[in-house]
Amino acid sequence: MKKRTMALVMAASFFGAAGCSAENAAAQKIHTESGRVLIAYYSWSGNTRFAAEQIQKLTGGTLFEIKPLKPYPSNYSACVDQAKKECREGTRPELAAKVQDFAKYNVIFVGTPNWWSTMAPPVRSFLSEYDFSGKTVIPFVTHGGGGMANCERDMRKTCPKANFGKAGAFSGGSIRNAEAALKKWVGEAADIQK
Ligand SMILES: Cc1cc2nc3c(=O)[nH]c(=O)nc-3n(C[C@H](O)[C@H](O)[C@H](O)COP(=O)(O)O)c2cc1C
Repeated sequence: MKKRTMALVMAASFFGAAGCSAENAAAQKIHTESGRVLIAYYSWSGNTRFAAEQIQKLTGGTLFEIKPLKPYPSNYSACVDQAKKECREGTRPELAAKVQDFAKYNVIFVGTPNWWSTMAPPVRSFLSEYDFSGKTVIPFVTHGGGGMANCERDMRKTCPKANFGKAGAFSGGSIRNAEAALKKWVGEAADIQK
């Protein structure tokens, strides 16, 4: 993606992000035990993985990395081009592994980088693959300035049977200094017995 295009994408998604707060405000705080918490995430360059690992430490839940069978190119421009097409088309790439005993989890933190103002396609696959009836999804997003954009909205559309908890959006560039913000948000979203 050309720098100017990226700046426009980010500006558009930043201004779009303001509309997500109403959904967040309505979200109920979830009560559960750590054995019933799954933290599933996709990460291309490590920011969302870092956030997921912090959430794991805070909740005592189980980490699960969402991996596409065919990894995205490690070259940034090639990845951005492929992602642009797939995000536009709503592609659901095949995933490399399944969650063991998915039924036992009732709270699932689902993490994604903001890709073209929506979730990364492997996360779309993940949300489509399991039965989320009666479960609560708590979305978390890392971004390059565009905030939540359409990520939460699109996750809700992809996973209509789930309840949704309070979503969190964090700047990817400063995620390694955001431990206090992550802790605050997890505390607002969920009350977890260890
Ligand atoms: C393919 C691609 C598309 C992206 N699109 C956006 C975007 O639309 N808005 C934005 O704020 N950041 C965008 N970013 C930046 C990432 O959301 C940000 O760097 C994120 O923290 C990366 O998470 P990760 O390290 O877990 O992959 C994009 C990055 C990539 C690689």
